[in-house]
Amino acid sequence: MRLIMMGPPGAGKGTQAKFVAEHFGIPAISTGDIFRANVSKGTPLGVKAQGYMDAGEYVPDEVTNLMVRNRIDEDDATPGFLLDGYPRTLAQVEELDGMIKFTGHSLDAVVVLTVDAEEIVQRLLQRAEVEGRADDTEDVIRRRQEIYTEQTEPLIDVYRGRGLLIEVDGMGEVADVTERIFAALDTVAQS
Ligand code: AP5
Ligand code: MG
Repeated sequence: MRLIMMGPPGAGKGTQAKFVAEHFGIPAISTGDIFRANVSKGTPLGVKAQGYMDAGEYVPDEVTNLMVRNRIDEDDATPGFLLDGYPRTLAQVEELDGMIKFTGHSLDAVVVLTVDAEEIVQRLLQRAEVEGRADDTEDVIRRRQEIYTEQTEPLIDVYRGRGLLIEVDGMGEVADVTERIFAALDTVAQS
């Protein structure tokens, strides 16, 4: 399975990606998590990414694309993968198309989690208290939402046009959302 998990900041991509990846025996690849790991280790990639992330801006495509390309090349991603937070721009969509085509496979589905704006802010402010993520401040959350609307929301129509889009209601209990995703994806896995 080659899957994408999409949705606005705080929609539950990372939370759900873990369950879905485990279910299908594939790695969950989160560009945000990889960037954060590099920032905390102070690697050259982390140094490049940090300023953008702290401001809620997207890290430049060429940096992000190369990082994903290298990650997808690893052995554990041969049977498939679930991408959490990639692609986020039209240029990244094109780049990913090339990467997948090169392996002789194709994308199976794009899951989009839909959550009310109010609920999202609540979730992120709550996470700020627990995890203290540098980009979970009110200003930066707002900027992350704006940039999602500007740059990433248009991807939904692209994938809808390809017949790959699965919209899932991301409101309610975590386990209920997981069940909805499984129900939608199991029909894809069988087809
Ligand atoms: P990234 O880390 O991907 O951040 P994001 O897109 O803003 O999304 P989040 O991780 O905040 O939310 P999520 O949807 O994963 O929700 P979660 O499961 O955590 O990216 C960070 C930055 O890296 C970007 O701003 C950018 O700078 C850079 N970057 C990353 N990818 C890039 C790319 N492709 N191109 C360029 N730059 C890139 O849930 C949120 C909270 O809600 C959690 O506390 C969770 O416990 C809780 N929660 C989840 N589900 C529920 C539920 N059903 N009910 C109640 N609470 C819930
Ligand atoms: Mg996340």
